[in-house]
Amino acid sequence: MAMTLEQFIRHATHQLAAASPSPRLDAEVLLMHVTGHARTTLITRAHELLPPESEKRLRELLTRRARGEPVAYLTGRREFWSLDLSVTPDVLIPRPETELLVEQALAHIPDDAEWTIADLGTGSGAVALAIAMERPRCRVIATDVSEAALAIAQANDVHLAIANVEFRHGEWLTPLADELLDMIVSNPPYIAEQDLHLTQGDVRFEPRGALVAGADGLSAIRVIAADARRHIRSGGFLLLEHGFDQAPAVHAILAGQGYESVATCPDLQGLPRVSSGTV
Ligand SMILES: C[S@@+](CC[C@H](N)C(=O)[O-])C[C@H]1O[C@@H](n2cnc3c(N)ncnc32)[C@H](O)[C@@H]1O
Repeated sequence: MAMTLEQFIRHATHQLAAASPSPRLDAEVLLMHVTGHARTTLITRAHELLPPESEKRLRELLTRRARGEPVAYLTGRREFWSLDLSVTPDVLIPRPETELLVEQALAHIPDDAEWTIADLGTGSGAVALAIAMERPRCRVIATDVSEAALAIAQANDVHLAIANVEFRHGEWLTPLADELLDMIVSNPPYIAEQDLHLTQGDVRFEPRGALVAGADGLSAIRVIAADARRHIRSGGFLLLEHGFDQAPAVHAILAGQGYESVATCPDLQGLPRVSSGTV
């Protein structure tokens, strides 16, 4: 028998209870994705019947979500810094915590600056596109070792019509050749190989190369910190996102490489998630 919108939400919330920390929200997002309805419509038309095609599609998505697939991969979309981004299993799903990296970068970049900034390991392009949108006079170079990720980032750039980003393929600093920049930002992989979190939740479906960085999770940060210095002008900045428990280690890495004014910034939950230094 056909279900109403309200009945679907109740049914799906129940189905997802064991698999998701936010079953009702997931049910609503999938319903909005398939029907094209706005959230308010789910309430105002709660008693409307779902068309059979939509119900069939929703049942398929529900099964995949119940197996653990992230909602963002099921809908193909994720919002970051108010930008509507396309995401696929080739890219990390941008996290709200990473908005702190954007916030901190913007805090250093004057509104009318004409800086050159690199976002290393751009993934979906989230950080590069947010900074480029907020500072249209800056030139943002977005790099990634994954060609598949770069293709998604480029598609997001075209869709959002942000003109001041260029995309380059390669390992960390390599695509910058001998360019000197005003700022380098990165949200690199920072999970330790054996970390049990890798076997839980959404991360099971994300690219391993976007998550894991050696035995202690710091191998990418070490390479970036060591190689970024010669690409940053005197007085310029390096900003890195890292794990909530990695601040002392990242601080030591940055100080050890000779960065000055090394500082760590807490996120909204008070967790130290972004560290920076100047050259
Ligand atoms: C944690 S994800 C961050 C993605 C995006 N910046 C974000 O914040 O959502 C790390 C990114 O670094 C890229 N990456 C991993 N190893 C790399 C390397 N050696 N050189 C360049 N990029 C690399 C991955 O492909 C991935 O896109």
